[in-house]
Amino acid sequence: MPEPDLNLDQIMAEVRGLFRDADLDDPALEARILVSGLLDLEPAAVIARGRSPVLGDDIVRIRAAAQRRIAGEPIYRILGWREFYGLKLLLSKETLEPRPDTEVLVDAILPLLREMVGQGRKPRLLDLGTGTGAICLALLHECPEASGVGTDISEDALATAKANADLNGLGDRFEGLQSDWFSHVRGRFDVIVSNPPYIPSAHIAGLDREVREHDPLAALDGGADGLDPYRIIANQADQYLADGGFVGVEFGWDQMAAVQAIFEAAGFVVRHAIRDYGERDRALIFARSPGFSGE
Ligand SMILES: C[S@@+](CC[C@H](N)C(=O)[O-])C[C@H]1O[C@@H](n2cnc3c(N)ncnc32)[C@H](O)[C@@H]1O
Repeated sequence: MPEPDLNLDQIMAEVRGLFRDADLDDPALEARILVSGLLDLEPAAVIARGRSPVLGDDIVRIRAAAQRRIAGEPIYRILGWREFYGLKLLLSKETLEPRPDTEVLVDAILPLLREMVGQGRKPRLLDLGTGTGAICLALLHECPEASGVGTDISEDALATAKANADLNGLGDRFEGLQSDWFSHVRGRFDVIVSNPPYIPSAHIAGLDREVREHDPLAALDGGADGLDPYRIIANQADQYLADGGFVGVEFGWDQMAAVQAIFEAAGFVVRHAIRDYGERDRALIFARSPGFSGE
């Protein structure tokens, strides 16, 4: 027998109830994100249009998705996309789900790009470990004069980043490049940016189940102390950075001093220190240290 139709208020109440019984942290918010996402509605519309009918097929989809959520799958993995800096970004098996805290790195780099544009330059960006393309695509979207290369070790991630570039009308200014950090990168860039894997290997097992089981290991594991990628990036960035360029990196809330020391030893100075939405240290922007000889 086909499912009888319900209205939005009724299906929302059902999903909220399921999530409450399953002890999710914020059942009302999660129900709104899931139902609006599945029905392709703005989140506010599921409240404002409560009397609108929801068809039987959609009810089946919503109930199946609610069961996946209750079984521990993160909500955006179920939807298959997440919004980042106003862009809809598709997710895939080997992409990290982009986090809102990464938006502060975009915020901090944008004025630097705009200053370059003001000087008549067309900034070139390099996003190392681009994943969904989040950082690079957000910057390209906000700065129409810029173009960018997003690298990743994962072919799956690069295919998703390219699809996201096309989806957001940025395909002609974004290039995906499979590369182990700088190994296949050629040329010089005005801004090099990265949110590399930074969890110490031994801490992976202790991460929240939703992260451990659904974000790819290659996007999380930063080696014994979590800092391996920063050492590689700091030690090679100079060869790929244009005159007057910047390097911006995200890191874990307790890694700022260590990341700063790695970059200073490689000849960089801090230009900006950035905190995230929870007021934790989250990113640093470096410039070349004047007169550093590398000796
Ligand atoms: C923490 S995720 C960040 C993804 C995306 N930039 C973001 O902020 O949402 C780190 C990314 O680095 C990639 N990665 C891991 N090891 C790499 C390597 N050796 N070379 C290039 N990329 C690598 C992962 O596949 C993953 O996409």
